[in-house]
Amino acid sequence: MMKNNLPMITGIGYAIPSKVVTNNDLTGLYETSDEWIYTRTGIKERRVFASDAEAFDLLKQAAEQAIKNACVDKEDIDLIVAATSMPVQFMPSSSCMVQALLGIQRNVPAFDISVACSGFVYGLDIANAYIQSGVAKNILLVTIDNCSRYVDWTDRRTSILFGDGIGAAVISAGDVSDIMVIDIKANGHVGDYITMPALKGNCPFVDQTPTQQFCTMKGQDVYKFVANIIPPYITDDILAKNNIAAEDVDYLVLHQANQRIIKAVQERLGYDDSKVISNIEHLGNTSASSILIAIGEGIKDGKIKTPSKAIVCGFGAGMCWGGGVINLRDGIFKPENIFQK
Ligand code: UT7
Repeated sequence: MMKNNLPMITGIGYAIPSKVVTNNDLTGLYETSDEWIYTRTGIKERRVFASDAEAFDLLKQAAEQAIKNACVDKEDIDLIVAATSMPVQFMPSSSCMVQALLGIQRNVPAFDISVACSGFVYGLDIANAYIQSGVAKNILLVTIDNCSRYVDWTDRRTSILFGDGIGAAVISAGDVSDIMVIDIKANGHVGDYITMPALKGNCPFVDQTPTQQFCTMKGQDVYKFVANIIPPYITDDILAKNNIAAEDVDYLVLHQANQRIIKAVQERLGYDDSKVISNIEHLGNTSASSILIAIGEGIKDGKIKTPSKAIVCGFGAGMCWGGGVINLRDGIFKPENIFQK
């Protein structure tokens, strides 16, 4: 009997803000240089949301694109998941905001997950489970991290890295699985590598030492952790264990954290530049959104052809990481749908 509860990735969308912050702009904030930042990270510039209103407008646009590309009716969405660790606001949740922004009338469930830069891959794992179990038929997954709001713009070790951006995907039940491999992992014992405290000092009955809510990162520790774990994770856990040869996959779409990490994975896979998708130079690290934006931009710019297969892998605070191999079906992203309201 033909199955009809397999996860098909039917549409994706993305949106990036228009305000550009270049490396040269940062030289006005602290001692740094375009050369230092570019050599260490591959980043030349990043984008930042000009306002909450712009962030929500872009969230709506990205979600609408994904729904349009997926050719589903918004009222057929039966679960909304938002991956966000640096939300524009905490309540209502980003997933409920999407529901309202899209004007979805049914009381479908909506919840947020907080796994930082692994947000897309964790979201895909959740979608896979909900679809395969028959609990949901059309899932809208959005990724939204307002990184510029939470980095300390006096800290040259972190504020050079991050940028804002939004991704969206629709995963629908069907008779073909577009998620060939999916895996998620965490190691909370090294949680202090990337931290962001909650606001403190508000309750008049206890300690009132105010705390700012900034993201801090032990850059070298994170770099070493990722450089040790991620390349073999992709070749051994994602590919070899699932009997997939690297040459049978068309593209590598890694979380965009540092061009040197992307290069290390590329070399381990033996891929030439045409198979490696990178947009870190003009967007920096957009956290949970980086993979979806890279896929969308890759298709728009003609660097990614469809149908094809891609290795995806996210990693970041937690420390959390996850990876998979997915099908990029024809029509998953149609450039003509960008920014249509
Ligand atoms: O998305 C989550 C995952 N995140 C990552 O994967 C990020 C991983 N980490 C990294 O990519 C790198 O650690 C960074 C790019 C963030 C930093 O590069 P690094 O080579 O690890 O630099 P560092 O922090 O060890 O600093 C080396 C030197 C220091 O000077 P001293 O103390 O040796 O005199 C820093 O003060 O470079 C200095 N420095 C800078 N100089 C100019 C640090 N940041 C800057 C800067 N401009 N922006």
